[in-house]
Amino acid sequence: MSEEYVLELEHIRKEYPGVVALKDVSLNLKKGEILALIGENGAGKSTLIKTCSGAVIPTSGKIHVNGKAFDRMTPQLAAENGIAIIYQEFNNVGELSAAENLFLGRPIRKGPVIDRRAMNREAKKAFDELGISIDPTELVKNLTVGYQQMIEIAKAIQQNARVLIMDEPSAPLTSREVENMFKVVRKLQADGVAIIYISHRLEEIFELSDRIEVIRDGEYIDTLITKNATEDELIKLMVGREMTQKYPERPDYTDMSQTVLELKHVYGNGDKDISLSLHKGEVLGLGGLVGAGRTEIAEVIFGSAPKEKGQILLNGKEINPRSAHEAIGLGIALVPEDRKRYGALLGSSIKHNINMPIYERISKFSVIHEKTEQATAEKYQKEMAIKTPNLNQLVRNLSGGNQQKVILGKWLAADSQIIIFDEPTRGIDVGAKFEIYKLINDLVKEGRSVLMISSEMEELMGMSDRILILSEGRVTGALEKCEFNSEAIMAAASKVVKEDA
Ligand SMILES: Nc1ncnc2c1ncn2[C@@H]1O[C@H](COP(=O)(O)OP(=O)(O)OP(=O)(O)O)[C@@H](O)[C@H]1O
Ligand SMILES: [Mg+2]
Repeated sequence: MSEEYVLELEHIRKEYPGVVALKDVSLNLKKGEILALIGENGAGKSTLIKTCSGAVIPTSGKIHVNGKAFDRMTPQLAAENGIAIIYQEFNNVGELSAAENLFLGRPIRKGPVIDRRAMNREAKKAFDELGISIDPTELVKNLTVGYQQMIEIAKAIQQNARVLIMDEPSAPLTSREVENMFKVVRKLQADGVAIIYISHRLEEIFELSDRIEVIRDGEYIDTLITKNATEDELIKLMVGREMTQKYPERPDYTDMSQTVLELKHVYGNGDKDISLSLHKGEVLGLGGLVGAGRTEIAEVIFGSAPKEKGQILLNGKEINPRSAHEAIGLGIALVPEDRKRYGALLGSSIKHNINMPIYERISKFSVIHEKTEQATAEKYQKEMAIKTPNLNQLVRNLSGGNQQKVILGKWLAADSQIIIFDEPTRGIDVGAKFEIYKLINDLVKEGRSVLMISSEMEELMGMSDRILILSEGRVTGALEKCEFNSEAIMAAASKVVKEDA
């Protein structure tokens, strides 16, 4: 162990039944540096960093922290040695308040009683320092994923971490929130905190990191100095082959004469008013900042959030789906943003998850046609390259990106006419993103229609036929393909339309 490293992982191996998640991966981290850890979905990034907290016990290998060697860590050892991890799956407890989550496991006490007032006060201070306005008493389940993530960061800071490991922290955040987070991360770096940063967004890696370690299929590939690295080089190291384009070519399949979905002055709750039309064979992009009302409008169309005003027309006929089940029956699918909450049954198999929306169709007298079930699952596993030893694997045991692919597969299997994607490639690696884009292209080629919510400007422009921008529950911009540019999108996203305007 060299003196200069605060953390050193040496020849880490991790075996699961039927899977070798890590074959032989080493990593080292210096005080005050930001090391990016990158690799495709299922490469082993999360598994590797979990060995630093004892959430994963390595099959073999050594962990050195500040010169001390460990065969395995425990949460307590990690905390004692100043290691904090922000996991890809949040550890927040939805039924507790923001402040209670911040002080989870170490509440502020006044004698034997928990001092809620002090906790709320300290939490307010912590959130203010991060530049985020979270009400400390708000239940976490009512906060957006963006805010939930910020609580996790605040928690690590509160615990005085010297090594901060962040597993895809930016995935649920919008660009403004990411900027905020970067400021915080840089401040920590200046204070000498060493940081491991995992992300699939290469532009973030270039902006933030000092060095980049690439792993592939559980193996160490290379470590590069960020300022000498190029994007093409990184992609090649990650996927093991050249990738020349990011978005697959797509001719315009839109049939403007056929409106399949129309919203007329629809809102859920609050001061919102959205009108839009989606045509046959069209990819309509929905841009905007967090809180713009995009997810909510998707849920209203899908019947999972109440509609209080306005009309939804499907092929010219008014519909009022009151449940997701009803919407699915009408040929509408929603691939949700928050896969943990709505997307997947984590405790069920891949096969079961993919077939979920079609069980009624493939069963007779409650007996499932098993061959169809197996074939459907196999088809989507292959199409989307879901990385798993077999289809009976529990979704919980898949890597984050592969869980997302299972959810996509499920909705594709449902054979819907209209598919709403809410942040479809969040947490998905470059290679797999391309596969998902190809799938979206196939959908519209078949004459289906896609409503794609995305906070990634490049993705919006790369995939949409038209883009609508929402701000505070209203449409503040509409762009035809020839008008796509990031300034126009940003301008519309921060515009506010007044009631009487
Ligand atoms: N508890 C488990 N049981 C079985 N296999 C597992 C378990 N945990 C992880 N794996 C497997 O280990 C491999 C590495 O997964 P890991 O979550 O580390 O990938 P990752 O690089 O973080 O991917 P992503 O970018 O999708 O988050 C995957 O093939 C995954 O299915
Ligand atoms: Mg991961």
